[in-house]
Amino acid sequence: MSAPLAHLALHLPDEHATDALAGQLAPLVNGAHGPAGGRIHLRGDLGAGKTAFTRALLRASGIKGRIKSPTYALLESYKVSNLYFYHFDFYRLSDTREWLDAGFRDLLRDDAVVLIEWPERAGAFLPVPDLEIALLHTEQGRDASLTAYTARGQTWLNAIVPPIAAHSRHVPPPADA
Ligand SMILES: Nc1ncnc2c1ncn2[C@@H]1O[C@H](COP(=O)(O)OP(=O)(O)O)[C@@H](O)[C@H]1O
Ligand SMILES: [Mg+2]
Repeated sequence: MSAPLAHLALHLPDEHATDALAGQLAPLVNGAHGPAGGRIHLRGDLGAGKTAFTRALLRASGIKGRIKSPTYALLESYKVSNLYFYHFDFYRLSDTREWLDAGFRDLLRDDAVVLIEWPERAGAFLPVPDLEIALLHTEQGRDASLTAYTARGQTWLNAIVPPIAAHSRHVPPPADA
């Protein structure tokens, strides 16, 4: 993978914080700071919050109705106005060529919003994402590690305003720190 351009580490104390992070990214992928579209890779163990984050982003983008996890189908697609959203989950890929054979590569366009869970299972043919979000279980909540690999991803990172929580308090460091 090409070299990361920028990085941001956040703590997400509860699922509302995950929703809030998705709520901050939604306008960005919908074109608030440039053309709409972009690719986000979501890494993390089962239950880390990849689907929860994606659902919240799709909801905040105006997608109504049921948002299914693509665990079995590999792909769920949506369209709002003229913008396409592709939600992949590669957990069940049996080999790294399966998604290529399914024609999924044609969907990884810069003018579509592409969210990919378990990108590591797709192997080396997957293009570099604009943003990778790695979610890690902590004692309470999750740590989120956001890495931008493109100028677009870097623009998004710069627009994110921590702390990510509806009711979290920012505790300033001690004066003598
Ligand atoms: N920041 C968070 N802190 C605690 N729980 C969270 C947080 N974000 C999401 N969750 C919860 O963790 C679970 C994540 O499940 P899911 O999104 O299906 O995981 P994955 O797709 O990564 O396997 C959900 O029950 C969700 O409510
Ligand atoms: Mg999932």
